[in-house]
Amino acid sequence: MTTRHPDRTATGPDRRPSSGIELGAWAYDRGELVSATGPRLPLSTQALHYGTGTFEGIRAYRSDRGLLQLFRVREHYERMLRACRILRITDIPTEVEDLIDITVELIRRNDHDGDVYVRPLAHKLSLLPDAPPGVSLSGVSDGLSITTFGFPSYGIAKAARCGLSSWRRPPRDTLPTQHKITGGYVTSALASDEARAAGYDDALLLDGSGHVAEATTANVFAVVADRILTPPGTSDILPGITRDTLITLCRESGTEVLERELSPSDVFTADEVFLSSTGKGVVPVVGLAGRDIGNGAVGEVTRRLAALYDAATRHSDGPHSAWRLPVDLPEARSTPALEHRQPSRSKA
Ligand SMILES: Cc1ncc(COP(=O)(O)O)c(C=O)c1O
Repeated sequence: MTTRHPDRTATGPDRRPSSGIELGAWAYDRGELVSATGPRLPLSTQALHYGTGTFEGIRAYRSDRGLLQLFRVREHYERMLRACRILRITDIPTEVEDLIDITVELIRRNDHDGDVYVRPLAHKLSLLPDAPPGVSLSGVSDGLSITTFGFPSYGIAKAARCGLSSWRRPPRDTLPTQHKITGGYVTSALASDEARAAGYDDALLLDGSGHVAEATTANVFAVVADRILTPPGTSDILPGITRDTLITLCRESGTEVLERELSPSDVFTADEVFLSSTGKGVVPVVGLAGRDIGNGAVGEVTRRLAALYDAATRHSDGPHSAWRLPVDLPEARSTPALEHRQPSRSKA
């Protein structure tokens, strides 16, 4: 893998947004480690025009002993590669182990202080010679970039008040909603913008049949009389990895989880509601569409699950060791596979 030196003087919105999130100096882009503010994709990049990309959000947490550990990185890359299959993105490293190797090398090189957020983006790039112009997946080259951010995690996140969105979650026969396809995020952006304009923190979106699907970028759970309800993985949701983690932790701790459809009134009348995502962990929802949920305060079940999740992500030993991959051991992994796995580049 070749290396171009990053511009370490680069600051401004690209590298240092005001929210305490800091872009790492190095990025992976189409087979090379380059300055994170340097790569320039052609203006004709297909994913930019047509939303034909897929991304992941992966976190690495500092353990109780200061060790940095990627959380369920394998599952994230497996999910990304499944989305690549549907988008016909093939000319990128397609072995999970290689993607993990690149990620580990990048994180080590960026040398962030605290928790880290990793953002891989696989996308359609440029028309191949002789391919007909137009919206297509075949006949278009592929790209993969990975950036990392110093991004403190929230522990138990600030409680949120949600609106009920006027935008519906698209059904999976209009868009593969079970994958993180970039184009699908226009619905999340519209719903999130609408919610914030109305003074809410986030929004719950209904699916085509009027059931609650999820929030703009998080899954939803309702606590009803000691049972936890969440829409099934086969409905029009993105089946989140955090959702799966929480279901596992709940069941292990003896709390019943039922995957079943939720109506808006199930949510209005729930004792507690919370959201789950890699980005924010467990987010208590204390209000919906101007009404309090439960007594309008963060509930006990939500608190307990947030603590279990925090422990699962930060343990350096303890249960579920397969979920955590240490990255800052002196020689965590080598990257011999990278040199000969550089994807070919085609003209813009
Ligand atoms: C639409 C949507 N739903 C759910 C989630 C939660 O998924 P995960 O827990 O895998 O981060 C996300 C995460 O970004 C998302 O974008």
